[in-house]
Amino acid sequence: MPEEQIQLFINDREVHASKGAMLIEVADQHDIRIPRFCYHKKLSVAANCRMCMVEVEKAPKALPACATPVAEGMRVYTHSPAALDAQKSTMEFLLINHPLDCPVCDQGGECELQDTAMGYGEDVSRYTERKRVVADKDLGPLVSTDMTRCIHCTRCVRFGSEVAGIRELGATGRGEFMEIGTYVERALTSELSGNVIDVCPVGALNAKPSRMRARSWEMLQHAGLAPHDGVGSNIYMHVLRNTVVRVVPRENEELNETWIPDRDRFSYEGLHVPDRATEPLVRGAHKWEASSWPASLKQVAQKIRQFRPEEVGVMAAPHSTLEELYLLQKLFRGLGIQNIDHRVRQADFVDQEYMPLFPNLGQSIESVEQNDAVFLIGCDIRLEQPMLAHRIRKASARGCQVIALNSRDLDFLFAAQVTWNQAPQAWLSALAEIIKCIPNNDLKDLPHELIEIVEQASPSRYAQHIFEVLSQAGTSTVFLGAMLEAHPLASALRALGAFLARHTGANLGILPQAGNTAGAWLCGTVPHRLAGGAPNPDAGLNVTEMLTGPCKAFVLFNLEPEFDFASAPDTLKAMQEAEFVVVFTPYVSESMRGYADVILPIATFAETRGTYVNAEGRWQTADPAINPPGQARPAWRILRVLAEHFGLEGFAHGSCQQVLDEIKARTGEATGFEGRLHESKAVNAQATADGMYRVSATPMYAVDNVVRRAGSLQQTPFEHTPGVAMCERQARELGVQDEDEVRIVQDGRAKVLRLELDPDLPMGCVWVQKSARHVDVLGDAIAPVEVQRLRLDHD
Ligand code: SF4
Ligand code: FES
Repeated sequence: MPEEQIQLFINDREVHASKGAMLIEVADQHDIRIPRFCYHKKLSVAANCRMCMVEVEKAPKALPACATPVAEGMRVYTHSPAALDAQKSTMEFLLINHPLDCPVCDQGGECELQDTAMGYGEDVSRYTERKRVVADKDLGPLVSTDMTRCIHCTRCVRFGSEVAGIRELGATGRGEFMEIGTYVERALTSELSGNVIDVCPVGALNAKPSRMRARSWEMLQHAGLAPHDGVGSNIYMHVLRNTVVRVVPRENEELNETWIPDRDRFSYEGLHVPDRATEPLVRGAHKWEASSWPASLKQVAQKIRQFRPEEVGVMAAPHSTLEELYLLQKLFRGLGIQNIDHRVRQADFVDQEYMPLFPNLGQSIESVEQNDAVFLIGCDIRLEQPMLAHRIRKASARGCQVIALNSRDLDFLFAAQVTWNQAPQAWLSALAEIIKCIPNNDLKDLPHELIEIVEQASPSRYAQHIFEVLSQAGTSTVFLGAMLEAHPLASALRALGAFLARHTGANLGILPQAGNTAGAWLCGTVPHRLAGGAPNPDAGLNVTEMLTGPCKAFVLFNLEPEFDFASAPDTLKAMQEAEFVVVFTPYVSESMRGYADVILPIATFAETRGTYVNAEGRWQTADPAINPPGQARPAWRILRVLAEHFGLEGFAHGSCQQVLDEIKARTGEATGFEGRLHESKAVNAQATADGMYRVSATPMYAVDNVVRRAGSLQQTPFEHTPGVAMCERQARELGVQDEDEVRIVQDGRAKVLRLELDPDLPMGCVWVQKSARHVDVLGDAIAPVEVQRLRLDHD
């Protein structure tokens, strides 16, 4: 229904506005500036700073524009003597206690208080009393405080409760004694916590990693894209002398609104680290030697040619740009090499023919908040895709029912109506139970292995309830997350999830995990499809087959085997045993020097132009903000020159744009949410092994090589020391107690870890934490394990 429009006058200018809108919103829509501190368009109205006072005809006193609804025929004056008098009085009161430390304040030059004081303040204060001083708080590694500067606008407090879903900051005391803090001093734990830096209108909350690093007017602002998840949040990188000093949100209402997750805000720290690769390196007879680009590329070409095409495996990181991924597959396919893949954290590939053109949300990011029910399967949405979790939080606030099938209670920071915690080996039967609830169900669309499982299921009350919620909701979505992707029976889970979605009228959202997972599928960085999704008649091997099969040479693109793959030990072993390994990488690690033969330094996302396709199929291109260090170069250029060394034609691109034009010509700017998976006939539904299963997830700040090097993110409470958790009953059966050490044996490899009890974990599984810093010596995230009791003190 169209909103009722009314007419009013601001500064004698006729304007039209929706009935019920606040004066300040209407003034903003018409570029009429009203000063403000506590008002923020994304937060509730507090009306506590009184800076937005305006004169309203027939009102006895000035009124706050942020809390005054418009009315028909209203006449408002924002700069009349009465309005200015009220605004200047408020300014004078605010400055009584605010320190005069603009020259040493990080906010200086971009401070709402400083700017407003220039317009509404006096140059000499009438107050000679002492200013109040407030002790700073330690809010953790990301946000620094100078609480004496706080003007008590409560934007940061409202951000916590209304946007982040966790009220970590609050006000204590009254009047002059009011203080903003965390009550008990502790680090902020929200994954969106850095946004309080932007909402704070003064310099009370600043970015700790960039504290005192640069003045705002010294930095150049470059538009960029965050490559760490499937949202593709829009960012600005602020650059001083070829160094990214900080990152802030670039407003995009359809993607990240005015916010960004901490991962996107602080990952830039990983750009400027000592282990950046700055020159081509080749393995000499006794040591690593610096090489030139022509010599190193010539060597790569010569070496790769010594292997038969089926002996070469090419693996790429899905946070690389579309142009890089496209040229990579084009180059190696040009040599007849078909073993090309980006699905490095996946364990089950049997349904790859039935995957959609690219994994997608089944809807736009903006419309996620319109869901009436959401079913998260194997998905820690808050840590995987923080901005999607924010959309679901908004949906939840307006009544959306959230259901989760995982192995432990995950703290989403929004209410989940049903959390069904099942050991990972029981997820298949749990979904079968829900499907069994569908009345008059025709199972013939399901692969026959799954029909049998569904027919044998007897629905629990959880299953019945989940079915009722999904089938009765107006708009609903079944989301398949990263833990499902890592599951050994992922194909069967995907098929059941798709079937459930189809028969309850829900959307199916297969969450693409990295910034260009969708792009990697689209441009043919998979063994069974070419660019544009055409079937590859000569399909190559998937990642697991490459690592365990006939490959003698590997091309690693933007990847680190010890962290990026489903199984670190298996991948490292394959690299060490390979006859030749060439690594395109922005970083050189000690481990890499152990297995690689040629190391080619490439630019990161901030140092190259590149395109990313996000979870809703949106293509976005960003230019570089800085130059890569030393001799590192944008990888699309390196691949282009390498192709010449191989004597391949069709690589004469003069610019990144020409590569993009070629991709578009091959693929079209493919968007849309086709659901090819619905007809999946190939699944892996083997009976799971008896006994205990390990379940774990990639930590939020370990998803890619840049984030892993962001020092401040690694100090947050999200990065735990690896440990093992199980429920008390399971521990009792094993004869162990909280804090005992136990030996976890997985696939013949063992590790001793400290046990913590978690009442939310079901029987039959243990949570073994992965880490951003420590190599997971055990292997796959979801796999059978044995838990062995050690000889203990209490024996
Ligand atoms: S810290 Fe900043 S955002 Fe929070 S109340 Fe104080 S001035 Fe407002
Ligand atoms: S902005 Fe209106 S009272 Fe603060």
